[in-house]
Amino acid sequence: MKTDLSNYVYLKDYQKTEYVISEVDLVFKLDPEKTIVQNKMRIERRHQTDAGTTLVLDGDELTFISAQVNGQSLNEGQFEASANSFRLLTPPADEFELTITTQVNPSANTQLSGLYLSSGNYCTQCEAEGFRRITYFYDRPDSLAIYKTRIEALKAKYPVLLANGNPLTSGDMDAGYHFAEWLDPHPKPSYLFALVAGDLGRVSAPYTTASGRNVALNIYVEHGNEPRSTYAMDCLIRSMKWDEERFGREYDLDVFNIVAVSDFNMGAMENKGLNIFNDKYILADPKVATDADYEGIETVVAHEYFHNWTGNRITCRDWFQLCLKEGLTVFRDQEFSSDERSRSVQRIQNVRSLKSRQFPEDSGPLAHPVRPDTYKEINNFYTATVYQKGSELCGMLQTLLGIDGFRKGMDLYFERHDGDAATIEDFLACFAESSQINLDQFALWYHQSGTPLLKVTRLYNRDRQELSLTISQELAPTPGQEKKEPMLIPIRFGLLAKTGDEQAFSAIRGAKVKDDVIWLENATQTIVFEGVSEGCVPSLLRGFSAPVNIESDLNSFEKLLLMQHDCDGFSKWQALQDVAGDILVKLSVGQEAPELDAFTEALAAIIGDDSLEYAFRALCLQMPSHDDLVPHLSGKYDPEAVYQAKLKLRKQITKRLLPLFETIYSEVKPASPFNPDATSAGARSLRNTIVSYLGISSDQRHHELVVKHFENADNMSDQISALITLVHDQITGYEVALQQFYEMHKNTPLALDKWFAAQASSPTSSGVEMLECLAQDPAFSWGTPNRVRALLDPFTIGNPRLFNKADGSSYKYLAQKVLEIDTKNPQLAARVLNAFRSWQHLEPTRRQLARQALASILDAKQAISIDIRDITERCLQ
Ligand code: BES
Ligand code: ZN
Repeated sequence: MKTDLSNYVYLKDYQKTEYVISEVDLVFKLDPEKTIVQNKMRIERRHQTDAGTTLVLDGDELTFISAQVNGQSLNEGQFEASANSFRLLTPPADEFELTITTQVNPSANTQLSGLYLSSGNYCTQCEAEGFRRITYFYDRPDSLAIYKTRIEALKAKYPVLLANGNPLTSGDMDAGYHFAEWLDPHPKPSYLFALVAGDLGRVSAPYTTASGRNVALNIYVEHGNEPRSTYAMDCLIRSMKWDEERFGREYDLDVFNIVAVSDFNMGAMENKGLNIFNDKYILADPKVATDADYEGIETVVAHEYFHNWTGNRITCRDWFQLCLKEGLTVFRDQEFSSDERSRSVQRIQNVRSLKSRQFPEDSGPLAHPVRPDTYKEINNFYTATVYQKGSELCGMLQTLLGIDGFRKGMDLYFERHDGDAATIEDFLACFAESSQINLDQFALWYHQSGTPLLKVTRLYNRDRQELSLTISQELAPTPGQEKKEPMLIPIRFGLLAKTGDEQAFSAIRGAKVKDDVIWLENATQTIVFEGVSEGCVPSLLRGFSAPVNIESDLNSFEKLLLMQHDCDGFSKWQALQDVAGDILVKLSVGQEAPELDAFTEALAAIIGDDSLEYAFRALCLQMPSHDDLVPHLSGKYDPEAVYQAKLKLRKQITKRLLPLFETIYSEVKPASPFNPDATSAGARSLRNTIVSYLGISSDQRHHELVVKHFENADNMSDQISALITLVHDQITGYEVALQQFYEMHKNTPLALDKWFAAQASSPTSSGVEMLECLAQDPAFSWGTPNRVRALLDPFTIGNPRLFNKADGSSYKYLAQKVLEIDTKNPQLAARVLNAFRSWQHLEPTRRQLARQALASILDAKQAISIDIRDITERCLQ
């Protein structure tokens, strides 16, 4: 465990390596406790003038065995080897071969970084700095080499031996061992190295690329899970096809292998030719996977596949450029999902996720730029900001340049930087050049942290029939950044006449406008629409064209007009959320909300509108989250009051919409037999959202309906939605249902995770006591990331009422658990700790308790990891 109080790493300190490692030849003799790794590297000095410079390679918890240069063993005095570095003191002047042998202990590796065992199978995770836990190397993304890998292992226990690239040879050895050799012809950084050895089942499919290359696709899973992997295979094939059509990108090896493992810190990893997945994002069948799980599988499979070009063929120069591969690849997977499903529904879901994860990060102590310029622990920078905001920035580029303009920039990027370790500047230069547009101001988005606030005020001139909008942009100070510059903000817009029809205008002045997009460039700008009628209402930020907050002078009736009539699906939904948010803020501080009746009327009209997609209507029934309301309550956020306000609003909605709910519930029929497609999923989603409202009805009949919904479910989406409603509203029979669910799924950990989550997210439970009880269950384990997340995320994220219990008991519990998890898996501990990121917005009593819990982590008697120290210190700063 890295515990040192090591210093910050700075972007400005970037320097190329002194030496270049061009080829790596690895031999693994696999053993659970004593794996021997022989690493033969072809090395050359970068500059002839640097003769004699010491070669310094990274290591982490390595046991050094031996080293040779050009086949000659090294003597003491020629090198220095420690657990975390190898130094060759006087390397040869000419190209040479350095062979280092190390020993590692996979079975003791609970961090799940480097080489470890998962359910008895060997696997690796090298991003970001895991390769140095396997062997000494330039473990940084700008060190690209060609890798050959030989794996030796017991054949009976580990019949499957996989590594990056294409298979070379394989065969039997003495004493029951066998071997396999793999060669990856594409130079790559060490973080993309992977190896798997185990006894696994396989699903295969052939694929022919657009230019006629044949590729063997394989997904490896635990024996017996093969039938649950066919959906993932289907997603992979659709992703490969989509990348050819949309971006002209083909696959470039003879095989593409995916392995699903049950112990994994993240969702999945894009290792070249050998993706390794958390099995949660591969395994799917109707009994175990919800529609959201199917969607997640599609997203993650596509995402990791898309990295083959955005990440692998073109990688990052250093970890500060992480968004170059992650933001862009998230953008690509979101575009894929939009093309495969409903674009507006997809957009709403992405924005919901952005606002509930990235916006809070950007408005709290952990705020950082999409392209940071300093970090202490890189693992803590795989954040919502780098990923989600990073994706939004690509989306804004596409909005500004148009789909074709964006594609032209991407084409140039692939052409110019294939085989490179690139930077954000390289990336942006391709778009600036191909479009002939100066993107210097746009580039600020990568460097300035925080969410801009747009303030909009209107003025109508009756004589001239002109509507003026004055828009100002503000960006509040964030850690390390006091003053900010105005940025280029694309605002997609429309105007609605009083009648709700789209309002035409004769001209616009005051800003650059391309099609229906305003290019906002100044701190304050007045934009004038000519030839418009009085009372028309601007619809700004259609499609959420920029990741900003907006404060407009629209009154609630104008917002209701947008909610009822906006032709942009996203804006219609956003207007609904805005009105609901206004109501919730008022209710939570004990005020009346006069717009409540008009709101429920307008909501009823939407929910009953058969021209709207089911999934869209389901999203419209979901009221704003606590996170959505926090910015409006900063410093006095009382989670209990918000919980009560939401309950009150939901009860009002139930009262008004009950007849509609009953009709829709009985008339909407999802496809039978089960089909995971978007339309059926939408139908289930609408019915299940209705079920959640029926749970708070005071009518016994509705409770019985929820119980029936549970009992008759033939798929996990229905079953778990009913269970959640039963448990959260403590409907008679909920204990029995919990037991039935447990019995039914007790041999399927991924299904039981939902059982844990349903209870942990219950606002009506006892809180910490209940968590402690759940953690005692034999199916639970603090050592398995999926279990830990299934218990803690639904509590810290999904249960704001009890996580923020006024006595501070949950904060204390979480801090304690973080310390315990930290001893085994610091990365996981740091992620759990992120739950405190918005503590400063809390009302004073809770704020004080949260601060104490955070402080207790730094005061702990045990040695703590750099991972949790970094997060805690930044939180408290
Ligand atoms: N490269 C990452 C996985 C990763 C991140 C490994 C950090 C180790 C450390 C991968 O491409 C990724 O981003 N996965 C996401 C899912 C994706 C759909 C956003 C994940 O694992 O959450
Ligand atoms: Zn990724």
